[in-house]
Amino acid sequence: MNILAIDTSCDETSIAVTYGYRVLSNVVSSQVRQHRQYGGIVPFLAQRLHKERIEAVVTIAVERAKLTWQDIGAIAVTYGPGLAPALEVGLEYAKKLSKEHNLPLYGVDHMAGHIASCYAQVGSKQPKIEMPCLALLVSGGHTELVYFEKFGIFQIIGQTLDDALGEAYDKLAKMLGLGYPGGRLVSQRAFLGDSGHYSLPIPLQYSKDLNFSFSGLKNAARLLILAVKQDRSELTEQEINDICASFERVAQESVLLKVEKALKAYPEVKTLLLGGGVAANKVLRRKLRILLKKYRVKFAMPLNMKLCTDNAAMIGVAAGLGIKAGQKPVLPGNLDRKPGLSLEESSL
Ligand code: KG4
Ligand code: ZN
Repeated sequence: MNILAIDTSCDETSIAVTYGYRVLSNVVSSQVRQHRQYGGIVPFLAQRLHKERIEAVVTIAVERAKLTWQDIGAIAVTYGPGLAPALEVGLEYAKKLSKEHNLPLYGVDHMAGHIASCYAQVGSKQPKIEMPCLALLVSGGHTELVYFEKFGIFQIIGQTLDDALGEAYDKLAKMLGLGYPGGRLVSQRAFLGDSGHYSLPIPLQYSKDLNFSFSGLKNAARLLILAVKQDRSELTEQEINDICASFERVAQESVLLKVEKALKAYPEVKTLLLGGGVAANKVLRRKLRILLKKYRVKFAMPLNMKLCTDNAAMIGVAAGLGIKAGQKPVLPGNLDRKPGLSLEESSL
């Protein structure tokens, strides 16, 4: 069954058409340029832009899939977590399409979407995923370790106590005046820097649980910037590169420590799935690959960069997997946005 999927949880208006794991089209209209001048996402600006763009993006997604409405069998839409005003636009439009074309409607958790992004098939490439799985979800809003034996029944075994990993990257970029969104910019600078030049604390290095924390590191980075600047108004390019490299080293070290702890606590795990915007980070991928080899655990991640950051193809694939696992459609009147939705709450 072809699924038309919608995601407007944050600052991308995205519509996709999927068939099982196959991505037939995945259109993302980004609002990054409009939010950049404010240094972050402005929820009501996001809502207005989603409203302005959604109809055109739907048309393009159906066209690119080389299908007509007769070929679409269901509508899937993100109902949380995300920004309430932004989620609302996708939900309302999904309900309208479901009524207009008489199609069943499925609600999808955005984070289940990030997990499903690792299942997405692009061209002839198909990821191999063996259960049980551990998912490391690292985005701008979440940092979670999720255990599952069956897609759709999720157990959160670790999560951030404060800032998400992507958020920490974004905040460091802001402090350094690098721009928004900061993850990619910080990692590009880190590539040019010396990761051992400055010492920063590894977050929760000695904690026994599987939780994360990045706000202490963010403050340590803020104090480091002040100390390096002293009475100068600007940092040198090399200093910026070295701060980014040192930050990235300890932030990722903290993530790797927790993944290793999780692998020890759940030795039955066969595959680790990496999802969320920070999954685009090549250094993190490389370090994870080395760690997983040691534990003989398979590594699955989105097959292209577009599937890492927010997109609707992952929502379509998640709906396909959910339907296979027994997920039922909802009546439009019964589907409400849930900005604080958690994976355990949305489990089937
Ligand atoms: O999943 P996503 O698109 O949106 C949320 O659901 O939050 O993730 C966006 C996050 C941002 O914080 C962005 O800075 C970060 O992913 N990001 C990266 C990289 N590319 C995007 N962080 C580190 N390295 C990257 N290459
Ligand atoms: Zn996301």
